[in-house]
Amino acid sequence: MPFLRLAFNKKNMRQKINIGLFGFGVVGQGLYDVLQKSPALDTSISKICVKHQKNRSLPESLFCYNPDDILNDPAINTIVELINNSEEAYQIVKKALISGKNVVSANKKMLAENMTEMIELQKKHNVSLLYEASACGSIPVIRSLEEYYDNDLLLSVTGILNGSSNYILSKVFDCHQPYSEALKEAQDLGFAETDPSFDVEGFDSLYKLIILTMHSFGVAVNPDDVLNYGISNISEFDINHAREKGWKIKLVGQVERLREKNITLFVLPRFVGRDKYIYSVEEEFNGVVIKGLAYDKQFMFGKGAGGYPTGSAVLSDITALGHHYRYEYKKAGYFGGFRYIKDAAIEIYLRYSNPDVLKYFDFKSVSEEYKGPEYSYKIGFIQLSCLIDIKETLRKLDIFMAATGKSLNY
Ligand SMILES: NC(=O)c1ccc[n+]([C@@H]2O[C@H](COP(=O)([O-])OP(=O)(O)OC[C@H]3O[C@@H](n4cnc5c(N)ncnc54)[C@H](OP(=O)(O)O)[C@@H]3O)[C@@H](O)[C@H]2O)c1
Repeated sequence: MPFLRLAFNKKNMRQKINIGLFGFGVVGQGLYDVLQKSPALDTSISKICVKHQKNRSLPESLFCYNPDDILNDPAINTIVELINNSEEAYQIVKKALISGKNVVSANKKMLAENMTEMIELQKKHNVSLLYEASACGSIPVIRSLEEYYDNDLLLSVTGILNGSSNYILSKVFDCHQPYSEALKEAQDLGFAETDPSFDVEGFDSLYKLIILTMHSFGVAVNPDDVLNYGISNISEFDINHAREKGWKIKLVGQVERLREKNITLFVLPRFVGRDKYIYSVEEEFNGVVIKGLAYDKQFMFGKGAGGYPTGSAVLSDITALGHHYRYEYKKAGYFGGFRYIKDAAIEIYLRYSNPDVLKYFDFKSVSEEYKGPEYSYKIGFIQLSCLIDIKETLRKLDIFMAATGKSLNY
C-alpha cells in the first residue's frame, strides 16, 4: 500500500516552520526570547516587519518595513502577526491566508470583528489560522474548548479575561492604591494595551469572549451587539459596598447556554464572593471557569498578559502548525442552531449621584435601594437589551454598574 503509507507519513511528518514575524513589541520580543529557549523546535524567524526605524535588540538586517518583503517571500511558510493595529493586522492576515501561508495571530479585535471571514478564508485556501494567545494569554482555553469540550455538555464559560484590568482591580481593592496609579503601573509592566480604554472599558474582554463563544457554541457574534461595560468609573463607594459584604469586584466575561439552544453573553464588573473560583485570581492573572453537565465546574488559571506568557502561547501555536493542526470549528459544524439572544434579564447594582440617570434604566424589579448625600444605588433586574441599546451612553454617565451574578430567563 505505498500510497497509504505516503499519506500517513506526510500527516505525521513535522513541517519545517520558516517564520515571517510582524511586530517586535512586548509579545514579538517575548516570542523571540521563548523561541531561543526551545531549540528542539528547529524553527527560525527569517524576517521581522516593524513600523518604525529605531534601535532594537537584534541586528537591523533582520528587520524590514514593507509587509510585502515577508508576504511575497516564497521561503516563508508561516506568518506570525503580533502588531498593535487591528485594521493593518486584518490586511496582513488576509493576504497571508490568500497566498497559502499559515498564520498565528494574537489580535483579538481583528479576529472578533472578522471571525466569519477568517473561517471562510481558511477553508477556501486550505490553510490554518491559530490564535491561542488572543484569549487569556498563556492559558490554553481555545484549544481545550475546541478539542476537549467538543460535545453537548458545555453550559457556560465565565472568566477574568483581561490581565491589566484585573491587575488594576487587585491594586485598588487589596492595596488601596489610587486607580490612576494602578493603571500607570499596569502600562509600565506591559500588561495594558497601547490604548488603556481597550482594557478598562471591557473591549479586550469582549473581543476575547466573542472568540471563546465561537469555540464554545459555534456562534459568530458581532461585538457591537454585545454589552461591554468596564471598571473606569469605579469609586471608593463601590469598593466599600463590596468590601462590607466580603466580596471583591472583578471584570468578568460570560457566555452561557440558555433554554432552547439560545445563548447569552456580556462583559460586566461583578461582585464575587469567596465561594467562587475567580475570587482569588489576582494581578495580571486570568481565570476561566468552564461549566458543563456531568462534570460541573472546571477552572483554568494562568498568566493572561505579558511578553513571555503570551509569547509561549504563540510558540505553542507555531508547534501545532508544525503538526498540521487547524481548528475544525466543530461546534459551528455539527452542533448547529445556537442563537444569541439579548432578552435575558440580569441583576445589577447601579450606583449613581444624579437621579436623572435613572431614566435610562428600565428595571423589571428592584430588590434593594439606598439614597445617600453623595451616592445612591439600586439593585434590581434589567433586560440585557436595555443596556446594549445604551452601551455608548453608559460610559459617559456618572454611574458604576456591576452584576450580582443572578439572572432570569435561563
Ligand atoms: N501585551 C500583551 O500582554 C498581550 C497579550 C495578549 C495579546 N496581545 C496582543 O498581541 C498583539 C501585540 O501586542 P504588543 O503588546 O506586543 O504590542 P506593542 O508592544 O505595542 O508592539 C507592537 C509592535 O507592532 C509593530 N507594528 C505596528 N504596526 C505595524 C505594521 N503595520 N506593520 C508592522 N509592524 C507594526 C510595532 O512596530 P514598532 O516597534 O516599529 O513601533 C511594534 O513592534 C496585539 O494584538 C495585542 O492585542 C498582547
